[in-house]
Amino acid sequence: MLIPTTLAWLLHLAVGTAASAKPDLVLRAGDKDLENCLNDAVGGDKARAQFPDEFLYELKDVRPLNLDIPVTPAAITYPETSEEVAAIVRCAVRYNRKVQGRSGGHSYGNYCLGGAGSTAVVVDLKNFQQFEIDKTSWIATMGAGTLLEDSENRLHENGNRVISQGVAPQVGLGGHASIGGLGPLGRQLGSSADQVVEVEVVLANSSVIRASKDENKDVFFAVLGAGASFGIITEYKFQTSPEPGAMIRYTYNVTTGDAKSLATAFKAWNKLVSDPDLSWKFASTLTILEHTISISGSKLDIMIMDDAVGKIGQALEDVGLHLSGLQTSFYAKSLTFTPSTLMNDQAIDALFEYLENSKKNALLWFVIFDLAGGYINTVPLDERAYPHRSVLYFMQSYAITLGRVSQTTRDFLNGINQLIIENVPGVGGAYAGYVDPFLQNAQQEYWGPNLPRLEQIKADIDKDDVFHNPQSVRPATS
Ligand SMILES: Cc1cc2nc3c(=O)[nH]c(=O)nc-3n(C[C@H](O)[C@H](O)[C@H](O)COP(=O)(O)OP(=O)(O)OC[C@H]3O[C@@H](n4cnc5c(N)ncnc54)[C@H](O)[C@@H]3O)c2cc1C
Ligand SMILES: *[C@@H]1O[C@H](CO)[C@@H](O)[C@H](O)[C@H]1NC(C)=O
Ligand SMILES: *[C@@H]1O[C@H](CO)[C@@H](O)[C@H](O)[C@H]1NC(C)=O
Repeated sequence: MLIPTTLAWLLHLAVGTAASAKPDLVLRAGDKDLENCLNDAVGGDKARAQFPDEFLYELKDVRPLNLDIPVTPAAITYPETSEEVAAIVRCAVRYNRKVQGRSGGHSYGNYCLGGAGSTAVVVDLKNFQQFEIDKTSWIATMGAGTLLEDSENRLHENGNRVISQGVAPQVGLGGHASIGGLGPLGRQLGSSADQVVEVEVVLANSSVIRASKDENKDVFFAVLGAGASFGIITEYKFQTSPEPGAMIRYTYNVTTGDAKSLATAFKAWNKLVSDPDLSWKFASTLTILEHTISISGSKLDIMIMDDAVGKIGQALEDVGLHLSGLQTSFYAKSLTFTPSTLMNDQAIDALFEYLENSKKNALLWFVIFDLAGGYINTVPLDERAYPHRSVLYFMQSYAITLGRVSQTTRDFLNGINQLIIENVPGVGGAYAGYVDPFLQNAQQEYWGPNLPRLEQIKADIDKDDVFHNPQSVRPATS
């Protein structure tokens, strides 16, 4: 059985071996002009515009999260003001480069660097750390470079407030709230994007604008779920909430190992979370590891769990916490489940059978089922680009490898989705926060019913597709 320290050690091992990948130093014609332009854009401060020919560029500036996806961007910039961001975008447009923002750098596909093989200009928002809270409205203003751990601490220290957000401390608000942002308070308060009341964004034409439900409504809609395709968010205003009272953390482990008993535990969880009357104060994550199921989460009031789930174990530190910030080679996939496409007994039995018998070729793998729904599903579909308004839970599968991810490993994760699709009619969809660079029809899977409107907005404000990654929204062609 894996204990957290073993997990961390395995990951360190993976980092040690894989981090030695050498960057490709290819300078293209015209790059010197781009460099000069970007240096000017950051006021001539050479440290704030870094290029592939710099010493330690890959290690210090590129820092890809996923070592399986090689990418050497044309530049990594560190602006300090929105006007500098605008000047950087202007340079990129002039020299025909794509642009992506980077906040926490936690994209599974290295999309903050433009994605595989990209030569984009990267706008790193680490200097955007502004924080302010209005003690009447309790609206908090936070810079897009704020990491989730800092957001949590600053809100706590300034009035015992919270926003709903994910659990990984090193994820950035910039990429998180602009893609959705799911966490333990989601069922009570909504996704991170749902709590945003205003944003400041730099658009493709280099204008710095504010967007809310009353002003630049289309931009507001688009950046709250598909932000990377529409601009660089520099600042958010969030409606915060009081910190919840006593939260009870719980963990139930099933470690008997055989496929049959794991399937029984899963069925019990599935039954529990699919109760339409389940409290919004109840959060739950089911993690399948080798021969183990661990169910953890929080509840704000005492509830009786189905006995079949198992006995109470000691708190499992979230797998996410251990991965946070570490560079590894990995592949991940997701799938969404609505009340009419939940896992059924046949799919559950097939899943555990498959997990027991398939070839994985991974250092570590796990499959997470994360309960969502609740308040998230009360927000109208047309208010924000984030589209998963009828999803009850998400699946996320993950495999970490030593060296590059092999086809065997990819097939292993693909096989999970495949068997569920075969057994659960109508199941589909994927969360853009867990990007899967190999996903077919990705835009449709990520944004579903909101895609046509997003493509139209894209054509209106970024028809030349400046803000681009391998699976970003493309402009509608009329
Ligand atoms: C260990 C780990 C745990 C996670 N846990 C959760 C979780 O609990 N809940 C959840 O919902 N998700 C979770 N995620 C997914 C995470 O929310 C997404 O990967 C998110 O996009 C990361 O944001 P970032 O700013 O850290 O990443 P980045 O890599 O910096 O950005 C991700 C994408 O957003 C774009 N972007 C970044 N900043 C901006 C900006 N300011 N303006 C416009 N576009 C921008 C980038 O260009 C890129 O396309 C987790 C990811 C990891 C690696
Ligand atoms: C539950 O499982 C997790 C993951 O394997 C482990 O870290 C934790 O120690 C387990 N708890 C108990 C009580 O077995
Ligand atoms: C930039 O684009 C936005 C959105 O289309 C528009 O509102 C604004 O007027 C444009 N600004 C300039 C200077 O063209």
